[in-house]
Amino acid sequence: MSEEKNIVWHKQSVTRELREKANGHKGCVIWYTGLSGSGKSTVANEVEKSLLNLGVKSYLLDGDNVRHGLNSDLGFTKEDREENIRRIGEVAKLFADSGTVTGVAFISPYRADRKRARDIVESAGLDFLEVYVKCPLEICEKRDPKGLYKKARNGEIKNFTGLDAPYEEPTNCELVLMSSEAAPAELAAKVIESLKQKHILL
Ligand code: ADX
Repeated sequence: MSEEKNIVWHKQSVTRELREKANGHKGCVIWYTGLSGSGKSTVANEVEKSLLNLGVKSYLLDGDNVRHGLNSDLGFTKEDREENIRRIGEVAKLFADSGTVTGVAFISPYRADRKRARDIVESAGLDFLEVYVKCPLEICEKRDPKGLYKKARNGEIKNFTGLDAPYEEPTNCELVLMSSEAAPAELAAKVIESLKQKHILL
């Protein structure tokens, strides 16, 4: 398609390797998936704080926030979620290529969409850590931090994940965090440990 559009890749002089050397760590994508209210953003925020303390460049792309801007044209049908995840997979790849440890906290309920995001990132030679923030639906619903489960139960929101829209659990992700069984800081420590094991933090 690019050839048809007469678009040619421009090779840049400052390479990923040079950026990694200057930063003292690699870029990567930490992909948090889980139900609304499962604690994805909470854990991701704890990880961000730890990375900041370690002097690691990081950034968090959060579904709720990205849907205010770049993806404000998308809703919650299967097709819109697919496009939501495709775009953020591409954005995350660029952030990771820039040398940033990039957190992505999106429900991303479909296995195939997460796999596509993984392929986008890995085919660029970058690490992708899928982190399943696992929490029983009943607990997410009890927490209901934004009052959305209540609205969905009342029929005010359609296609709500876990209720009348599916959530496909990961089958072979890098990390499963049981968010109802440990404190966020404890879970964040497991993510940091994974980054060290994968030699992303050099
Ligand atoms: S995703 O499914 O496309 O990955 P995303 O993470 O971007 O979802 O956005 C989820 C957030 O949107 C939820 O945390 C919740 O606050 C809000 N939301 C609004 N409507 C829905 C819905 N129908 N299903 C799930 N979340 C919804």
